[in-house]
Amino acid sequence: MDAYEYTFVKNKTLKLTGVDLNCYKGPQMQRRLQTFLRRSGHSTWPAFFRAIQSDAEKLAEFRDFLTINVSYFFRDAEKWKCLQELILPELLRGHPKLRVWSVGCSRGHEPYSLAMLLIEATSFYRPNQILATDIDGSALAWAQAGGPYSAEEVAHVPPALLDSYFVQDNGYWVNNRLQRKITFRQHNLLAEPFIPSDAGESGYDLIVCRNVVIYFTAEVKEKLYRRFYEALRPGGILFVGGTEIIPKAPDMGFEAVSMSFYRRNDALQDSRLKSQGRSIPA
Ligand SMILES: C[S@@+](CC[C@H](N)C(=O)[O-])C[C@H]1O[C@@H](n2cnc3c(N)ncnc32)[C@H](O)[C@@H]1O
Repeated sequence: MDAYEYTFVKNKTLKLTGVDLNCYKGPQMQRRLQTFLRRSGHSTWPAFFRAIQSDAEKLAEFRDFLTINVSYFFRDAEKWKCLQELILPELLRGHPKLRVWSVGCSRGHEPYSLAMLLIEATSFYRPNQILATDIDGSALAWAQAGGPYSAEEVAHVPPALLDSYFVQDNGYWVNNRLQRKITFRQHNLLAEPFIPSDAGESGYDLIVCRNVVIYFTAEVKEKLYRRFYEALRPGGILFVGGTEIIPKAPDMGFEAVSMSFYRRNDALQDSRLKSQGRSIPA
């Protein structure tokens, strides 16, 4: 795809889907787009866009393809074990209720996994707040309906949790008790202000953003990590995907706690500002 054609595709895509391809790694996205066009049966991009602009189903399919919403419960089981055994107990110490944000939650596997662990760690009645957001409205509708999920998607759910929180009826569905624990909202991470936690300025205790920014350019990722830092309370944790590493994390004020877990550490940020001769914000 030449630069002129890619600019045309980027403009049309933004207009029709709200997805800004400038934020995505170019060569990787272009390869994927070419494959998608071939499979769509259209030979040119103008023909493709003409066909999808008045076809809501095809448009949704294109948006799904761009945003990639593959997921499953307790993805990277060993990281969830670390969350359960190390991170959550620490976060819960001295904090009667946790404010959690699952960013890019897809069809709900991640926030429901979080909700199960939180109920098990505290109690069903503890008023923890779990906000789950995604750009993809159809993925959110699926999440809000609580299913159905396939046997593969629930394969890593521990049997006791599967018994307590799921019902089987042509697939697996999370039960109403669990559904009620989560607030789902459509939100475009790249275009909208971050949603403040219900505690306002003090920020989230835990932000989970896994396998979402991997497709974005290095500059966009850095900007987002800095915004996550701001959205966390001091001492709050950012939980990233199994293959994701935050480059220059200490420069942003993040302390690596364990693989995939970063803590907002204001002392790091303060000493960085001091070493640059800049004043520390009050
Ligand atoms: C691969 S899934 C990851 C799901 C889950 N976090 C996990 O790790 O299994 C990526 C999700 O990010 C969402 N996403 C992509 N771009 C986004 C954006 N700009 N704003 C919000 N969500 C976005 C997609 O719709 C998709 O559901």
